[in-house]
Amino acid sequence: MVSHSPGQNNTLELISLSKHYSATSIAVDSIDLKVPTNHYCCLLGPSGCGKTSTLRMVAGHEVVTSGDILLGDKNITNASAAERGTAMMFQSYALFPHLSSLDNVAFSLKMRGVSKAERHQQAAALLERVAMSAYAQRFPSELSGGQQQRIALARALIMQPRVLLLDEPLSALDPFLRIQMRAELRHWQKELGLTFIHVTHSQEEAMALADTMVVMNHGRIEQSGSPQEVFNRPASEFVARFMGGHNILKNAQGLVAVRSDKMSVHDSVSGSEQPRIEADLVDIEFQGTFSLLAFAPKTPGSETISVMLPEHQVKPEWRAGQTYHLQWAEADSHPLGKTTAPQRSPIAA
Ligand SMILES: Nc1ncnc2c1ncn2[C@@H]1O[C@H](COP(=O)(O)OP(=O)(O)O)[C@@H](O)[C@H]1O
Ligand SMILES: [Mg+2]
Repeated sequence: MVSHSPGQNNTLELISLSKHYSATSIAVDSIDLKVPTNHYCCLLGPSGCGKTSTLRMVAGHEVVTSGDILLGDKNITNASAAERGTAMMFQSYALFPHLSSLDNVAFSLKMRGVSKAERHQQAAALLERVAMSAYAQRFPSELSGGQQQRIALARALIMQPRVLLLDEPLSALDPFLRIQMRAELRHWQKELGLTFIHVTHSQEEAMALADTMVVMNHGRIEQSGSPQEVFNRPASEFVARFMGGHNILKNAQGLVAVRSDKMSVHDSVSGSEQPRIEADLVDIEFQGTFSLLAFAPKTPGSETISVMLPEHQVKPEWRAGQTYHLQWAEADSHPLGKTTAPQRSPIAA
């Protein structure tokens, strides 16, 4: 029923893909990206960086300015939205309030003129697939957020897509439900064996979900890779700052990133071979499982350094205003390349 046929090649490839809304509004600037078949891919970046425009071009809801979109071995750049093998799952699900779960799921088949008996049969099979058969006659207002998400998923799947596109699907939910629902999305992606492209501005969400994480900035791709690769070895200053959890330091070679949890605090210098910085303690914040310490380096013009320590490593005698030595292993300092995005101000909305 669902499109998944084992061995089908659902690799999605974007080649020099651009979207210019006008001469001055360049939303997507010649991006190249290959999402391996049946990967969970998250497009991540700040508001306005071109995530939705990219997704809408893949969906066929936006005309491509230049470049190509390949799905499997087919060029789908100019295929109609209905014919290209993609389906969108919308933010807050956009279910029709006056239709039952079954009719919501069957809706696109109705639009295609499929008979009532046939579309109800297909919709019922999909409801079973997402464990929602018992709710077929309920209206969206009679369903929990999680149940609505499953109906929205079934509704997108009825077109038998090879790639499911999700634009900030979890952003309208409260934090508790969001974590529950992202685990569900991950489960269904594995269960269905489809390629998912999920747009988010949340680093945490992308890291929790993605096989491949793509960090965008000003219409360009700054870095793509596994969440571990991107978090542990940010390629540029932008990625290090956007992902958070890193300190950006200047050494003789240029800028380097050192994770906050890879730094240690000492009253006096030890292990003189290790890189170190002398800094004044500014603040200690207790955060539950760890404490966050803020330091002002002695070197003028340096930015604040954060150190994340497990509670038991924070010495009770440490005081704000005192000077300490921060150290880290050479192997934990990662050189940062130049940002790939042109240095211009954010595109005006
Ligand atoms: N229909 C449009 N017409 C003109 N500019 C647009 C349109 N849609 C988006 N943009 C601009 O393109 C840029 C990228 O937008 P978008 O792809 O929505 O970013 P994101 O989803 O990452 O927030 C923004 O500067 C936005 O204002
Ligand atoms: Mg968007």
